[in-house]
Amino acid sequence: MTPTALRQQIGDAFSRAAPEYHRHATLQHTAARHLVEMMPALHAGRILDIGCGTGAVLNHLAEQHQDISLYGLDLAAGMLNQARRTWSDDSPVRWVQGNAEMLPLAEQGMDYVTSCLALQWCDLSLALAEIERVLKPGGTAFICTLLRGSFHEFNQACHALGHQSPINSFMSLADVERTIAMTQLVSAGVQLRTLSEHSHVFTDALRHLRGIGANTRLQGTCHPLPARRLQAVWQEASGGQRYTISYRVGFLQLTRPSKNRTTP
Ligand SMILES: C[S@@+](CC[C@H](N)C(=O)[O-])C[C@H]1O[C@@H](n2cnc3c(N)ncnc32)[C@H](O)[C@@H]1O
Repeated sequence: MTPTALRQQIGDAFSRAAPEYHRHATLQHTAARHLVEMMPALHAGRILDIGCGTGAVLNHLAEQHQDISLYGLDLAAGMLNQARRTWSDDSPVRWVQGNAEMLPLAEQGMDYVTSCLALQWCDLSLALAEIERVLKPGGTAFICTLLRGSFHEFNQACHALGHQSPINSFMSLADVERTIAMTQLVSAGVQLRTLSEHSHVFTDALRHLRGIGANTRLQGTCHPLPARRLQAVWQEASGGQRYTISYRVGFLQLTRPSKNRTTP
């Protein structure tokens, strides 16, 4: 599949998930809150939220900061439509449909960039290059992204049954750090958090996985899973009597230097 067709497929999956996304996105909302808590008090300036979905991060930002201009960018038209419905007509957000890997925005226009659980869907090196391009010198990006180890209870259950997990694999922390090191961005270090959610009903847990729209395969294809056996092994991997979904999340703070670093 070409990169353009894959982006289209990812956007379509998130657009389909958009009407119900809010109900299933409990962990995303927790991550969004943690992300905004990392940010300093802001008094003015422009903030771009990449992969804004239905606007969880922008909601927190609008609540906490008055005189800022907010831009919400997402690949999925359905997510943006859903976001627009929840904001009034005089909302401070400008909504932009676009791809994080090719931002349709001018250079050095943003004081801050945020992105919550979206960049794992992108080529991180392209997305970071774009973030660097649109940030003003001295501007900072606050990003959280899924890392390897996410969904490990579910993946463990699939592997125990001899099946490939339908969930995509994610970059390791070391890979993310290597990708950052290839940019001019200065990292304040990566904070790691594991966010977990438990469900006592198998179909609810599966619906949750589908409801967040995260079901587009980036790598390979999968065979259908044997549901009954999956229930037992997923419970076992979750410590019994429940189905656990865990996100291993890396929180990054990356600043564009006021002057470009020179290579020695
Ligand atoms: C898991 S949702 C997170 C949404 C929101 N940030 C939140 O925390 O609730 C991921 C979002 O990233 C968007 N997305 C995926 N790939 C993207 C890309 N290449 N460019 C822009 N947005 C993208 C999806 O459409 C989706 O809305």
